[in-house]
Amino acid sequence: MTTVLDVQRFKDEHRRFSVLTAYDYLSARILDEAGIPILLVGDSLGMVMLGYPTTLQVTLDEMIHHAKAVARGSRQALLVGDMPFMSYHVSTEQAIASAGRFLQEGGMHAVKLEGGGRVVEITRRLTEMGIPVMGHLGLTPQFVHQMGGFKVQGKGQAQGARILADARELEQAGAFSLVLEGVPSDLGRKVTQALRIPTIGIGAGPGTDGQVLVYHDMLGVTTGKAPKFVKRYANLAEEIANAAQRFAKEVANGEFPGPEHEYSANGSAPAPAGAKEGEVQEVRYGAG
Ligand code: KIV
Repeated sequence: MTTVLDVQRFKDEHRRFSVLTAYDYLSARILDEAGIPILLVGDSLGMVMLGYPTTLQVTLDEMIHHAKAVARGSRQALLVGDMPFMSYHVSTEQAIASAGRFLQEGGMHAVKLEGGGRVVEITRRLTEMGIPVMGHLGLTPQFVHQMGGFKVQGKGQAQGARILADARELEQAGAFSLVLEGVPSDLGRKVTQALRIPTIGIGAGPGTDGQVLVYHDMLGVTTGKAPKFVKRYANLAEEIANAAQRFAKEVANGEFPGPEHEYSANGSAPAPAGAKEGEVQEVRYGAG
């Protein structure tokens, strides 16, 4: 199983690594078996799974619900639970309780928190208690209203210096890695070179140690235009729509279900592809 020590080794050995978000059992299982070393149950699930306008609406209970499903599907990946808005904002005690739920109930191995400032102290306390912390700086979506929208951060000298200073403080507080989102590539590289811990970029250029993408963005299960930093490795939205239309058409014209999809009382129906004649097949969703 991938551990936080392995993640540090990736950087020490100059091995670039990938991170993907995961929100449910089957996708986690597929990504885990594909060898993705880190799965992040991101609060982006509020937008891509639950249809909220931003990540601010997602609750800790919703995050834990999805974290449990991801944990059931995963064997080898390091699992990181994203602390949602208002799950660590009230007090350090609240942050400890929320992070504890991610590990105890959600089956996660680490948590992610957005921002610097007072998050540095929370990072220190969590780390002291054996809860590994992934930091997150730059475009931090929970600050969307303060940033005036989802905008690239760290463009000017002062903003860049602030992000670098926050990154150093998070490292000193014990963070095991740091997500850098929506920052100029130069800054992504500069922070990466300044830190001992690995950085994980999303819209932060090629100079970070790892790269993370949102599952739906990477697979093209989206409805609008992708942001600039996204590379689509598939166009599943189109494939899903095509498959659904073919299904509806075959139902309408009686082509589906065919004889190979039928059960019979006396075993006279043809065996499904891959099964031996007469073999009893479990009725199981999502299998095969
Ligand atoms: O919520 C999320 O998916 C994230 C990643 C984009 C880093 O924070």
